[in-house]
Amino acid sequence: MIGTNLISICSMKPSPRMLISCKNSSSFLARCHPTTPRAMSNNLSSTNNIHYPLRMLGFARIMNGNHRAFRLPSSRYFSHLTSRPQIFRSPAATRINGDVTTATVNELGLKPRKSSVNDKKNLEIEKVYIKTDNGIDEKQLVVEKSADKESELEAGGEEDNARSENKVSEGVAAPIINNNGEEETDVEREAWKLLQEALVTYCDTPVGTVAANDSSEESLNYDQVFIRDFIPSALAFLLKGENEIVKNFLLHTLQLQSWEKTVDCYSPGQGLMPASFKVKTMQVDEEKVEEVLDPDFGESAIGRVAPVDSGLWWIILLRAYGKLTGDYSLQERVDVQTGLEMILNLCLTDGFDMFPSLLVTDGSCMIDRRMGIHGHPLEIQALFYSALRSAREMVKVDDGSKNLVREINNRLSALSFHIREYYWLDMKKMNEIYRYKTEEYSLDATNKFNIYPEQIPLWLMDWVPQEGGYLIGNLQPAHMDFRFFMLGNLWSFVSSLGTPKQNKSILNLIEAKWDDLVGHMPLKICYPALESEEWRIITGSDPKNTPWSYHNGGSWPTLLWQFTLACIKMGRTELAEDAVALAEKRLPVDSWPEYYDTRTGKFIGKQARLYQTWTLAGFLASKMFLKNPETAAMLCWEEDLEILETCACALSKSGRAKCSRDAAKSQILV
Ligand code: GLC
Repeated sequence: MIGTNLISICSMKPSPRMLISCKNSSSFLARCHPTTPRAMSNNLSSTNNIHYPLRMLGFARIMNGNHRAFRLPSSRYFSHLTSRPQIFRSPAATRINGDVTTATVNELGLKPRKSSVNDKKNLEIEKVYIKTDNGIDEKQLVVEKSADKESELEAGGEEDNARSENKVSEGVAAPIINNNGEEETDVEREAWKLLQEALVTYCDTPVGTVAANDSSEESLNYDQVFIRDFIPSALAFLLKGENEIVKNFLLHTLQLQSWEKTVDCYSPGQGLMPASFKVKTMQVDEEKVEEVLDPDFGESAIGRVAPVDSGLWWIILLRAYGKLTGDYSLQERVDVQTGLEMILNLCLTDGFDMFPSLLVTDGSCMIDRRMGIHGHPLEIQALFYSALRSAREMVKVDDGSKNLVREINNRLSALSFHIREYYWLDMKKMNEIYRYKTEEYSLDATNKFNIYPEQIPLWLMDWVPQEGGYLIGNLQPAHMDFRFFMLGNLWSFVSSLGTPKQNKSILNLIEAKWDDLVGHMPLKICYPALESEEWRIITGSDPKNTPWSYHNGGSWPTLLWQFTLACIKMGRTELAEDAVALAEKRLPVDSWPEYYDTRTGKFIGKQARLYQTWTLAGFLASKMFLKNPETAAMLCWEEDLEILETCACALSKSGRAKCSRDAAKSQILV
């Protein structure tokens, strides 16, 4: 059955699933020896009794066909491929229990294993399948917290003056000393416990954390490990010295990376990382079942969106792993280098677009529903820039990679210029836009994107403080999205995508607009919300994204760790402390919700999941960054003059005389 699935070729239906099973472990990888691609493909076709998943068949097809059609990363790709983890269905399968009767992939309600992260087991150990715990203690805890929650909400103050309210951090238990000799509050201890309960194991090895552990709601895909959601969990684990789970995550997701583009079959492009994956069990025969990793590249996701951010996060995490553990051997591995190149090639591929920013569809990132962020959304650009900066530190430089390295440098340079110049908005720039002439046809046009000044929304003029500014949400022909998107702005200063002066101004703006952007719960995902007709047209009347809810102006506590990182980088730790204190007071009482609603984040989100992992992991990571600010510094980037000096135009052989930077007005260095 699975075999048939895997070799089915394009027939205008969803692509065959990639199911990766346990035995493709690192121990097998270690045994890999270089063979020629041809020998490998012969091997593949002549081996009858082993079922290869799509990746390997894709590989065989590449080897047998025209590899250009699949846009392979580089000529040295082939030598890397031979060391890539090979995927086999595990011959040693384990029986779960007597009641497994279905003959195909069978979901057995495998739930996150309640275990300690210290419980690191070798991949070779006999597989153990853990079914749902009854979790009586935890259930009681939920009930108690719910009662607390009501009284807390009743006691809530007015929506204004939120900042002064936020400063009150009573209710947070006094810290005690943990095993590492660090102070830990009750709330932190609860968060650690919940984080451990969110662990997902695969072949008895922790490989990630579920998105949410909320038994009161239908799980949909919240029982999966999301790449983006796992980042704060990973950081919390790394900061605690629990490195193995992060390494497992990086290597297992690498195996899920898409290797083949099949046109017209709704399958992912080569190099794409999945949005999420799930550990499933598969019936091998009457007696045996085994675990498989089942990725979702957006083909099951609501709205069918491809997760552009996943690969970018993966690269950022790979760098963080090296920085925080000092173990750089992981990023040097041949298979890891190949995976890295594949993501980069996917991002750096030429398209019709002429901007250095990435062109994507709506909902291709944390905001994974229609919210009018198609085109060149800031969030993707900031993560792209961070991923390129990470890659620049990690790509092994040799003859085979020198073109890629050059492309990375050029793109970094062009992207930073583009964002600094065209996305920046402060009072001065607004006044410029206000006086724009339109319909300019020339290389020197001031209003290059033909923005009609009437687009400046009414709320904006009074909102931007004199001393602050921010990067707008999106830029397209005749369209500036003036909404403030938190994640994109935060990553712009974490990665030094903005100028030092711009970064400072963004933080000034967040401070000045604290009630709007932090309010009762850090932090607003975007500001302001789309209302009335705008909501109807732009979201398609999405009932989950009503004004001031969810992605449409909701408040997302997971953004706290990124805010903390940014504040530490800018030497404004006190802002992060205020925000963390506010979260610490409320999150445990509210059962760690996914998001909050209303203008100031006063209510738990209408459809918010409780015990959302990235909420509690983000809180833990923030606390740990504050305790050891030098760890935060390791993850940030400083201004790099080399990037600024290179101008992509200067390297071009096209002989085009005019560099748009010459015509640009701002100084990108200030
Ligand atoms: C929602 C969020 C998305 C997140 C997922 C799992 O779909 O929009 O960003 O990754 O839930 O938590």
